[in-house]
Amino acid sequence: MKTKNFLRTFTVQFVTMKKIGIFTSGGDAPGMNACIRAVVRTALRNNLEVYGIYRGYEGMIEGDIVPLTSASVSNIVQRGGTVLKSSRSKEFMTPDGRKQAYDHLQSHGMEALIAMGGDGTFKGASVFNSEYGIPCVGIPCTIDNDLYGTDFTIGYDTAINTVVEAVDKIRDTANSHNRLFIVEVMGRDAGFIALRSGIASGADAILVPETETDMEYVARNIQKGWDKKRGASILIVAEGDEYGGAIIVEKDLKSRFPDKEIRVSILGHLQRGGNPSCMDRVLAARMGWAAVKGLMEGRNAVMAGIINGEVVYTPFEKATKHHLSLNPELLELADMLS
Ligand code: F6P
Repeated sequence: MKTKNFLRTFTVQFVTMKKIGIFTSGGDAPGMNACIRAVVRTALRNNLEVYGIYRGYEGMIEGDIVPLTSASVSNIVQRGGTVLKSSRSKEFMTPDGRKQAYDHLQSHGMEALIAMGGDGTFKGASVFNSEYGIPCVGIPCTIDNDLYGTDFTIGYDTAINTVVEAVDKIRDTANSHNRLFIVEVMGRDAGFIALRSGIASGADAILVPETETDMEYVARNIQKGWDKKRGASILIVAEGDEYGGAIIVEKDLKSRFPDKEIRVSILGHLQRGGNPSCMDRVLAARMGWAAVKGLMEGRNAVMAGIINGEVVYTPFEKATKHHLSLNPELLELADMLS
């Protein structure tokens, strides 16, 4: 049976507040704009004023803060990047920087914050919260998907689709020339992008930081593929793989297969751009809504996430201390299909 209350806004307000601020910080991720829109519209519908803090913690320190209206977030649901801009602030790591940020928030009468970003963003928010006590709810946004407390982060789905599209194209040319391609994807500390995009694009090997890379084994598998008359070979390497990135892997394989034509393709920042996928837009909308709801319910120093389809709130401390592990079943599957 369909629920008639589907479009009803929640009206129970446990905490009285009028003004909230929102900012995006760290590496941008497709879907951030859809999330900003959801936060702004949910807040306005619940009679809150919303302020955009530009350039993350940098803008907080400099007082780059402007009111947002429903119209400010029109026509952005489909756009990659972040209209609020982003930064990785060194100054916010200092007590002086945080004091300046607090003074600016005070002068604007800001009563609560919504922080969108990854691990570093929540570490900063956690320290700031313990020093100055402004209530804060976080929203996980990073293409790396490496955050504890949610099944998926905003931006991950778009990024892996971008990688798969790129690898499909690389495979066309790799096949024409019977070449071995080493494709490096993002993931400084985590192999989530490499693992899923590798499975989806039929990679012959996937190298991730979480597992020890055995080049002997990788080379044997590649050779087996050639023995079975497979034309091209594709290796996906996460940039943070402990053996090294694509260039190191290329050097190793060149010494093992001196007669083979090997090429490297480093996908880089194109993985962070582009229109967000449908999955990311809906995830962003749900998380933006959940963050405002969380603040109104009096939640503080937590990250809103979605696990098994349900909204959950995880304390910043827990979200930043724990590391999300790769699904061992997916690792086994990747090996099986290579
Ligand atoms: O946002 C996470 C991430 O994309 C990592 O995978 C990557 O190593 C890093 O950002 C790159 O950051 P920057 O844009 O600051 O060089």
